[in-house]
Amino acid sequence: MPTAQKRTALWGRTIFRVLGQNRLSQAGVVVTSATGISMVFLWIIEILKGGHGHPYSGIILFLILPALFVAGLLLIPAGFLLQRRLDRKAGRTAEPPPPIDLTSPKFRRVLTFVAIATLANATLVGFASYKGLEVMDSVGFCGEACHTVMAPELAAYRGSPHSRIGCVECHIGAGAGWFVKSKLSGTRQVIAVVLKTYSTPIPSPVHHLRPARETCEQCHWPQRFTGDRVLIKRKYAEDEKNTQLTTVLVMHVGGANAQGSVGIHGRHLDAGSRISYRTLDERRQQIATVSYRDDTGQTVDFASTELKVTPEALAKGETRSMDCVDCHNRPTHAFELPHRGLDREITAGAISRELPFVKKKALELLKGKYGSQDEAKKAIADGLTGYYAATYPDIASSKKLEIEAAVTAVQAVYLRNVFPNMKLDWGYHPNNIGHEDFPGCFRCHGGNHESKDGKSISADCEACHQVLAMDEENPEILTQLGLK
Ligand code: HEC
Ligand code: HEC
Ligand code: HEC
Ligand code: HEC
Ligand code: HEC
Repeated sequence: MPTAQKRTALWGRTIFRVLGQNRLSQAGVVVTSATGISMVFLWIIEILKGGHGHPYSGIILFLILPALFVAGLLLIPAGFLLQRRLDRKAGRTAEPPPPIDLTSPKFRRVLTFVAIATLANATLVGFASYKGLEVMDSVGFCGEACHTVMAPELAAYRGSPHSRIGCVECHIGAGAGWFVKSKLSGTRQVIAVVLKTYSTPIPSPVHHLRPARETCEQCHWPQRFTGDRVLIKRKYAEDEKNTQLTTVLVMHVGGANAQGSVGIHGRHLDAGSRISYRTLDERRQQIATVSYRDDTGQTVDFASTELKVTPEALAKGETRSMDCVDCHNRPTHAFELPHRGLDREITAGAISRELPFVKKKALELLKGKYGSQDEAKKAIADGLTGYYAATYPDIASSKKLEIEAAVTAVQAVYLRNVFPNMKLDWGYHPNNIGHEDFPGCFRCHGGNHESKDGKSISADCEACHQVLAMDEENPEILTQLGLK
């Protein structure tokens, strides 16, 4: 019976032999065991902290450390092979491997060691790969790790109805094929970031965006009968009192009901797309032709009566089958125009209407040209406080807190919409819902697309919505509806 000490020595010698006596394999052993131990240690800390670490911590813990760990593992056989070649060249004969003999204690020791080591490595690498994928799919990885590049999309996303779902839900979705595609295109993007060859701003539309059927429709579907939806929009005039003006619309969102596919959703989409169109420009704003499948299953073709459609221009265009993103192109990266951003902050109470001319003054400041976000922040703070100190000294002292809050809110509007370092300015990304700020629905519904038999695409206000009040100070309809 060997003593405990002897047994340890025997094990030590066997392991030493298995792992090789060459420098490269030994370096591999050191790298692997050092990263392996720190990895497990840091994972335990991360789990105890509930996984709310720094956005980069996941990248280090589940991508970089495991990569080092695997690299160390690979060094071990690489060292063996190299040593064997060197031995052969030098005419040395290496020690023969132990004979395959289960009754030999030496062989059993080697076998046990290899089995345990493989199991441990497989567990570590398996867990790391699983977590690594989770990291790559996280908002932190998509939006934060590439800091400057994705900052605009991340900022707009944070304030949107989708801020609680991951980037991958819309940009990748489920299934193996898209998963691989996304990893390939992701790798290209990481290279573009490292080499700084990306475009500024990041262009839209995204030409390889996955069809909405496989992303948006996993959570929303067009046939759902939403019916009519009351939409209350508040604006503020650029007068001394920042007068509130309210518009009340009943949007005929529709869906599917006893009459079939109705309303805004139903007329464009039902079980599939009913409309395809051909654009002339990169951003899908100029629509040359539209094909519509009507309720009887006939296809009606409309052509623009306004655009100059040369065959060359048409050839450069793109044909699209209409889906959610042709209207909701900014469901989450909803960049605002400056007056819309201010209206939102005033409605939310972050900018007080008690401050005379605050809308007008803030709008001027937001529209200024600045070299960086920091420069803009300073100009907004100085501009607004300076304005009240000079023009309304008593308000500057009696409403000091309101002015400070307004400064923060006006800055926030700038910070989430304008990114001078990415050359992203007001209104760069058109929003296709509506027709007031951008062509939107009127790209087709502006009364300028006709079919051969002279029918045009509906431009009737009431097909889309009932306008119950338009820019009114105290719309009676809100009182009648019991709304305020
Ligand atoms: C609700 C779905 C949704 C989510 C969630 C989402 N996106 Fe998008 N994203 C879109 C759509 C739709 C477009 C543009 C569609 C078009 O016009 O082609 C887009 C466009 C982009 C673009 C191109 C530039 C632009 O503004 O059009 C980038 C970059 C981008 N997204 C990054 C992100 C990042 C990073 C996240 C997570 C922080 C994210 N997206 C989350 C739907 C989404
Ligand atoms: C993972 C689920 C999920 C996916 C995928 C998703 N959404 Fe949503 N969406 C939601 C949720 C949840 C809300 C409601 C948020 C709330 O009410 O605060 C929402 C809200 C909306 C709204 C209403 C916003 C409002 O102002 O009321 C629109 C429009 C919308 N989504 C469009 C889209 C489009 C277009 C896509 C695909 C590009 C998409 N969604 C993909 C979950 C999803
Ligand atoms: C023809 C343009 C168009 C298409 C296509 C379209 N929508 Fe809409 N959608 C609208 C309009 C307009 C509204 C009304 C609300 C508004 O004006 O903001 C709306 C409202 C919504 C709402 C909020 C309604 C609610 O339940 O409160 C959701 C969610 C939504 N759409 C999701 C989708 C999804 C998902 C698709 C694709 C299956 C889609 N939409 C296709 C134009 C469109
Ligand atoms: C093809 C459908 C369609 C037609 C036709 C249409 N609208 Fe609209 N309208 C919309 C949508 C969609 C919105 C945006 C709702 C939103 O902001 O989410 C809108 C918004 C508006 C607004 C609010 C603007 C704002 O943002 O403050 C007014 C006012 C309005 N429409 C008036 C009209 C009038 C008047 C007509 C007829 C001359 C008309 N619309 C025709 C779809 C339509
Ligand atoms: C690519 C072109 C295109 C765009 C963009 C588009 N539509 Fe349409 N829409 C059509 C066609 C084609 C029809 C069917 C012909 C018709 O009914 O006039 C239609 C029909 C409709 C109808 C039914 C009209 C009726 O009289 O029954 C509504 C409502 C509607 N669209 C709303 C919208 C809204 C709201 C938007 C913007 C958010 C929008 N559409 C954007 C092409 C478009």
